[in-house]
Amino acid sequence: MDSNTRQITIHDKVFEPFISSQKIQNTIDEMALQINADLRGKNPLFLVVLNGAFMFAADLFKRIEFPCDISFVKLSSYVGTKTTSMVRELIGLDEVLTGRTVVILEDIIDTGITMAVTMFKLKKLEAKEVKLATLLFKPQAFEKDFKIDYVGMDIPNDFIVGYGLDYDGHGRNYPEIYKIVE
Ligand code: IMP
Ligand code: MG
Repeated sequence: MDSNTRQITIHDKVFEPFISSQKIQNTIDEMALQINADLRGKNPLFLVVLNGAFMFAADLFKRIEFPCDISFVKLSSYVGTKTTSMVRELIGLDEVLTGRTVVILEDIIDTGITMAVTMFKLKKLEAKEVKLATLLFKPQAFEKDFKIDYVGMDIPNDFIVGYGLDYDGHGRNYPEIYKIVE
């Protein structure tokens, strides 16, 4: 099947296959290998940024081989296909972070605005260290200068859906990632 025949339509836009399910899983294997090597014995708290990161978090978390916790927060700045500068509050955090190693799990870092705010808010909660893991990173869109400890893949500055990522609420259910056909 060529990629043309596997195009999908979400709302008013057409998307084509971009990153296969196998490639995603291989990437998460690599990330887990590194995290297992780095954070063993630290009893980290994995903090999942909902909604987009839920699939990535589930797949990564199954590969963690030491005692750890997971919790979920929500913070969204996205409307349609463009980042807005309006960033909402961090909600859902009911853990005590004082003295802990926290690993933020994010689906994608685009401009970095959302993550900059998330990390700013978390640092005030006196975590011992805050690490950042993102499945996808758009270097050409990135406007910030914080360090990303674990990056699955760099991708070009195209709008994508699937594997947890949505376009106006739809498209999260696909096990692979699609990119917009311009
Ligand atoms: P940022 O603040 O520009 O880094 O955007 C971060 C958030 O926007 C991510 O957590 C995603 O939820 C969403 N996002 C960024 N790029 C895409 C994309 O290509 N498709 C779907 N959602 C995206
Ligand atoms: Mg997200």
